Amino acid sequence: MVIATHGIDLTLTTPALAGEIDRLETEFTVPTEKLNTVIEYFIEELNRGNEDGTDPTGIPMNVTWVMDYPDGSETGEYLAIDLGGTNLRVVMVSLLGNNKFTTKQSKFHIPVSMRTTKNRDDLFDFIASCLQDFLEEQNPNGIPKDAMFPLGFTFSYPATQSRINSGVLQRWTKGFDIPNVEGEDVVPLLMEHVHKRGLPIEVVALINDTSGTLVASRYTDPLTEMGCIFGTGVNGAYYDRVANIPKILGKLEDDVPSTSPMLINCEYGSFDNRHKVLPRTSYDIQIDNESPRPGQQAFEKMTSGYYLGELVRLVLLELYGKGLLFKDYKPASEQAQNLKTPYFLDTSFLSIIEADETENLSETLNLFSSKLFLDTTLEERKFTKKLCQFIGTRAARLSICGISAVCKKMNYKKCHVAADGSVFMKYPYFPERAAQGLSDVFGWEGLAEKDHPIRIVQSEDGSGVGAAVIAALSHKRQAKGLSLGLKL
Ligand code: BGC
Repeated sequence: MVIATHGIDLTLTTPALAGEIDRLETEFTVPTEKLNTVIEYFIEELNRGNEDGTDPTGIPMNVTWVMDYPDGSETGEYLAIDLGGTNLRVVMVSLLGNNKFTTKQSKFHIPVSMRTTKNRDDLFDFIASCLQDFLEEQNPNGIPKDAMFPLGFTFSYPATQSRINSGVLQRWTKGFDIPNVEGEDVVPLLMEHVHKRGLPIEVVALINDTSGTLVASRYTDPLTEMGCIFGTGVNGAYYDRVANIPKILGKLEDDVPSTSPMLINCEYGSFDNRHKVLPRTSYDIQIDNESPRPGQQAFEKMTSGYYLGELVRLVLLELYGKGLLFKDYKPASEQAQNLKTPYFLDTSFLSIIEADETENLSETLNLFSSKLFLDTTLEERKFTKKLCQFIGTRAARLSICGISAVCKKMNYKKCHVAADGSVFMKYPYFPERAAQGLSDVFGWEGLAEKDHPIRIVQSEDGSGVGAAVIAALSHKRQAKGLSLGLKL
């Protein structure tokens, strides 16, 4: 496995630990041949999802009813919200045409307890309250009486859409687990609270963050063919042709020809839920078994930011249990229980360690003592750094399987893949490792990264601008009397 160590010698001198790290390296390394096998099966699942998409063990390939490419000429003022895994963002987007836009936005932290609240109203009222705060802040003299704000609602969970401005939640992901929302259309659930607060808002489009990322980037860069999120969750979106989506053929209005583009939100976090090809370790299996939704989001559980810290924690805990790490650790005090607390470590833990280039790994030393109340030896820190490299590299290499599968299926030889998400933006070396993975799969050895035919590029602010552009595209279709969903 090619891993940059940046001059620090990470050789372990304790034989038992050295043996364990070799074992872990083998378990977490994904050779190129394995990537190719995964990609082949990925293409099968993409096609199967377009044929049916209702099999809970497959990729849903959700039809989004975005049937136009933006060309950068779209204009208008749109309100957008983005309900992600960690934050809710409210954005006012002014699309100026000429591929230009401006935004004003506020970010609201989603309280951790909200993810698993027993009352769905807590979540939807929280969103409505953020919208209210934002609109009041933007309109200090009061919201104009005759105003009506068109809203693009970015809902970053799998939803079945029969038309562009509605969506029934298929299942929660990324640790969300709120009763009575799965199987429900989330738009009326939100609008109930918007109306209660007397806000002049109308949902024009419900979109996924990947669709937003794709469309926002395409607004400014016509080479963009895919939008991907590498964050708390993972997923990708691309435009297919209606003729390639058997599950909607015969259910469309006459104004939608079979040559029409259709944006597909793959929801490929659920790739290989049947566990046929992904190289799962015992740690991956444990994460799945102990999650609120065992058997779901198999690909996401190995690659997304929500799980990377937990993978590291499980390995550290196992080695502590074997008496090989943290020998003086006395889990007596409450704080010292942190290592034993599921999901206590998030991806920033790995990011800090991977970025630590100090000779004695002193940033790692501080991190262990401040977060886990553990005094570590240099040997333990080297072990942990290597472990983070294995887990981070595996995530990046597996992540590109979704991109490669879509590019091969659609025969894209040269394009940009717009990427967003905390892992892509903040995890050290993630973009480089992903680019290396693509190069291995497509055989671009010797080409500088900037010359790779398929390049993962940082997206334009996906969630806000994409929702606004999609809302503008819908308005255009509406004005022309064109359909925005299944045949009525
Ligand atoms: C969700 C997707 C989303 C992705 C990235 C996944 O867990 O199912 O809808 O696009 O996370 O946010």
